[in-house]
Amino acid sequence: MSEHGGNVVEMGLQAGIDPALLLDFSANINPLGLPESVKSLIVNNLQVIEHYPDVEYRHLHQAIARANQCDYDQVIAGNGETELIYGLVRALAPRLAMLLVPGFAEYRRALQQQGCQIIDYALSEQDGFQVTTSLLDAVRTHRPDCLFIATPNNPTGLMPDAGLLNQLATLCETLQIALIVDEAFIDFLPSGSGLAARLKTSRYLYLLRSLTKFFAIPGLRLGYLLSGHTELITLMKNTREPWTINALSALVGQHLLTDERYIQASHEYIARQRDELWRRLDGFPSLVVWKSAVNFIFFRCLRHNLNLQQALLQHHILIRHCANFPGLDGSCYRVAVRTEEQNKKLINALTDVLQEG
Ligand SMILES: Cc1ncc(COP(=O)(O)O)c(C=O)c1O
Repeated sequence: MSEHGGNVVEMGLQAGIDPALLLDFSANINPLGLPESVKSLIVNNLQVIEHYPDVEYRHLHQAIARANQCDYDQVIAGNGETELIYGLVRALAPRLAMLLVPGFAEYRRALQQQGCQIIDYALSEQDGFQVTTSLLDAVRTHRPDCLFIATPNNPTGLMPDAGLLNQLATLCETLQIALIVDEAFIDFLPSGSGLAARLKTSRYLYLLRSLTKFFAIPGLRLGYLLSGHTELITLMKNTREPWTINALSALVGQHLLTDERYIQASHEYIARQRDELWRRLDGFPSLVVWKSAVNFIFFRCLRHNLNLQQALLQHHILIRHCANFPGLDGSCYRVAVRTEEQNKKLINALTDVLQEG
């Protein structure tokens, strides 16, 4: 089974289906696709690839700092957020880390590469997989060097309570624990400014952002990290390999964050499609569906002898099986919210596979 969503090549090969024929619901990419502004920027500036990009990425870092109302030296961009997860873990060199499960796989891989001991904090199904105040108790008890939390979380699509998140940030500041908040999907929340306002006063807060999901550029790659711990940001800039972000990606990143028309259109479209897809999924008696704040939906299939991912592949539809997320069993799945027409295809295929609805 693929470690991540979006692995259409591997899944197609395994199922004996041409990957080009698969409709991919396993990667959580904005269904509106690449913004028009990005397309024309790339087409009109292809010549930038004839030169090395500015190794300091000055314009890109300035644009990110401006968009987030923070200082230039609080920002580092990366070749996707993933580069920064690994770079941050290397720079922090934690010996004991806490992870919330289920959660995104790359935190664990990055920590394991550094030989870091990991404590899992299980989000319980009884609490609807939501973060509760017991996380604060666990942090006080274990005193890890760092804690990763994704807001909203992947694969559940749930956003923790804002008050609780602020309490967690205050606690970590007091106990001098690095709080690494993965805001990869925060742009999908219309009011989502996350914890950025706390950066001015915090030295233990790290905000990871991805541009690949919201702006539909997973193949181009771009993400960034914000932190008030400017010495650490400088260390990361000085110790990483040069030119990890290609020149086209750096150029696109300077303009993306101000494309208000695309941002607004995405919020409206995704909210409409998500609500409709949720309603249709919830209509299947054998599916238990969680409410989502973002562009993907998490559910459990009560037919335990049915592998929904395999069954839907026969309809040339790829969904994310969540069996390899620690803390989940083989009955959980995640689907992206796609276009109206594509979502209908998913519902029709599910109707056929489940013979109900
Ligand atoms: C929660 C979360 N964080 C980070 C990433 C990585 O994002 P990027 O494509 O910017 O490396 C992903 C990708 O799926 C994700 O789900």
